[in-house]
Amino acid sequence: MTATKRIVLSSDHAAIELRQAVANHIAAQGWDVVDIGPTTPESTHYPLHGKAAAQSVASGDCQLGIVLCGTGQGIMMAANKVPGIRCGVCSDAFSARMIRQHNDANMLSIGARVVGEGQALDIVDAFLTAEFEGGRHATRVDMIEA
Ligand code: RB5
Repeated sequence: MTATKRIVLSSDHAAIELRQAVANHIAAQGWDVVDIGPTTPESTHYPLHGKAAAQSVASGDCQLGIVLCGTGQGIMMAANKVPGIRCGVCSDAFSARMIRQHNDANMLSIGARVVGEGQALDIVDAFLTAEFEGGRHATRVDMIEA
């Protein structure tokens, strides 16, 4: 990984604390973290935040994105509506590694009401250190995009 890699983070109100823990964790690894909030705890709408993060990745401003909400499901669904985004919700490190290796996922979603902080950081590390394997998986990812 190079220090120039940029990653966008976003969440809804249900995941602000975990998002900030993730931000600190990956910033310490040298990532340029673009945390687009929200920063205040008022109830908000996860589709807005999923879309904003996904647009940052789809535009090329950030290489990867991590989104979080209560379950990780709603914000993942919103992110996947943006063309070019492949976002998977993960509650375990194996899945997080595999969505990079096989699915070339460019976004990860985590449920703050599903996993604790330690598990979430393991999931993030698995996602960020895995590489897309290409080959037969590229054929399948191309089929998703088509
Ligand atoms: C908010 O209460 C909750 O619905 C949201 O964080 C998320 O879990 C939706 O998928």
